[in-house]
Amino acid sequence: MKAVLGLMVILLGLSHAPVSSVLLVSACLSQGEMRVSCSSEGGDSPQYSWTLDGRTLTDAELLSGNNESKNIILKQHVSGRLTCSVRNNVSYVYKEERISTCGVETYCDGRQNGAQCYGALGGTVDIQLIDTTAEIPRYGLFKNSLRILDVRKNRFLHNTIAHRSLFFPSNGKFRINNLSRNDSGNYSLQPFDSNGRSLGQRTLQLFIQAPVTSVLIVSECLFLGQMRVSCSSEGGDSPQYSWTLDGRTLTDAELSSGNNKSNNITLKQHVSGHLVCSVRNSVSEVYKEQSKCTCDISLPICGLRAVVVIVLLIGISIYFTWKKKKNEKAEASAALQAEFPENSVLMVEMRGSAT
Ligand SMILES: *[C@@H]1O[C@H](CO)[C@@H](O)[C@H](O)[C@H]1NC(C)=O
Ligand SMILES: *[C@@H]1O[C@H](CO)[C@@H](O)[C@H](O)[C@H]1NC(C)=O
Ligand SMILES: *[C@@H]1O[C@H](CO)[C@@H](O)[C@H](O)[C@H]1NC(C)=O
Ligand SMILES: *[C@@H]1O[C@H](CO)[C@@H](O)[C@H](O)[C@H]1NC(C)=O
Ligand SMILES: *[C@@H]1O[C@H](CO)[C@@H](O)[C@H](O)[C@H]1NC(C)=O
Ligand SMILES: *[C@@H]1O[C@H](CO)[C@@H](O)[C@H](O)[C@H]1NC(C)=O
Ligand SMILES: *[C@@H]1O[C@H](CO)[C@@H](O)[C@H](O)[C@H]1NC(C)=O
Repeated sequence: MKAVLGLMVILLGLSHAPVSSVLLVSACLSQGEMRVSCSSEGGDSPQYSWTLDGRTLTDAELLSGNNESKNIILKQHVSGRLTCSVRNNVSYVYKEERISTCGVETYCDGRQNGAQCYGALGGTVDIQLIDTTAEIPRYGLFKNSLRILDVRKNRFLHNTIAHRSLFFPSNGKFRINNLSRNDSGNYSLQPFDSNGRSLGQRTLQLFIQAPVTSVLIVSECLFLGQMRVSCSSEGGDSPQYSWTLDGRTLTDAELSSGNNKSNNITLKQHVSGHLVCSVRNSVSEVYKEQSKCTCDISLPICGLRAVVVIVLLIGISIYFTWKKKKNEKAEASAALQAEFPENSVLMVEMRGSAT
């Protein structure tokens, strides 16, 4: 018995391997830069190092910090597999995350009056202002009654945000780069005929949202094997949550609290599978998957650990059942005991482990 418990303690000890103790959190800053923080749990004098797509981060990619800082700021348009490694003299753990640039590109059809357009903070929006076939001699684009674009005979005349915008007369698209919250507001397009008479106006509303940059899932066991799962996101304006289990939407039958749009849910007993939390807003969508977890004992156990612990528990309970029976039978009769040779202990335990 001591051996079984000892083995269990060792396996549980191993299963608390420090992989989950590194946390990467990223957020987009207003100009499309990304701040990333690496934090580690436990461990004295941790030393940090960063790689991008397998090689050390270079100063050209960094706006602040260096390849050994805890917190760094990546320049605009830097993307790839970012890894933070934390080492001290007794351990080495790392966390990797695919980061995409904060400069999200969006498209909006502004040819409909009252169009609602979304742009990402630090990103780029392409607004289709006119039909490519439209032969409009002159038109202006105004923002809150300030003229920002004046186009005459398809020549680009005037643009107050010229340093970060482009107009393509050939296809009628207006592009604004490096979006800031100031760019949100009401825009109106005013076409004129060749005599300078207004042909009415169209308006569009531009909303600027910070994109969602990362998603975190945390689970805990409640009594009776229920599992509470919280999904939280970093960086996004008006995040909307949704959940899937093994690829399909969570149903109310699987939930004892929350619904498929809550950020915190409680799964009923015995509900398990690959759980995915998606967080979206109008300019981005990020999701995070949690491997199969179970609350059959009081802590959430996920992935391979679940298999190991459950097999051990089954093994132990079979051992105790057998031992109890053995004792009862020992008291009953010596003749019956002869039918249970000593090596049946091994047999039963092996059967338990293979379950
Ligand atoms: C960080 O970069 C410097 C050179 O810029 C290099 O000498 C050093 O080894 C790097 N550190 C790590 C942990 O990769
Ligand atoms: C780890 O390093 C610390 C000092 O940084 C030292 O006191 C400690 O003995 C070292 N431990 C091992 C196992 O080398
Ligand atoms: C983006 O805009 C900010 C001011 O809003 C400016 O400081 C920054 O240099 C701009 N970046 C680029 C790449 O144009
Ligand atoms: C936003 O607008 C305000 C005033 O309208 C101005 O003071 C500020 O500099 C602007 N910020 C950016 C990033 O353009
Ligand atoms: C933009 O227009 C909408 C309705 O068309 C209005 O509700 C909103 O207040 C306007 N926003 C600004 C900044 O003027
Ligand atoms: C959430 O569940 C409701 C029914 O309970 C369903 O109508 C809706 O489509 C689901 N939402 C998502 C995002 O799947
Ligand atoms: C979700 O749970 C987190 C902590 O687990 C808590 O801070 C947050 O307020 C909860 N949100 C809601 C809407 O209940």
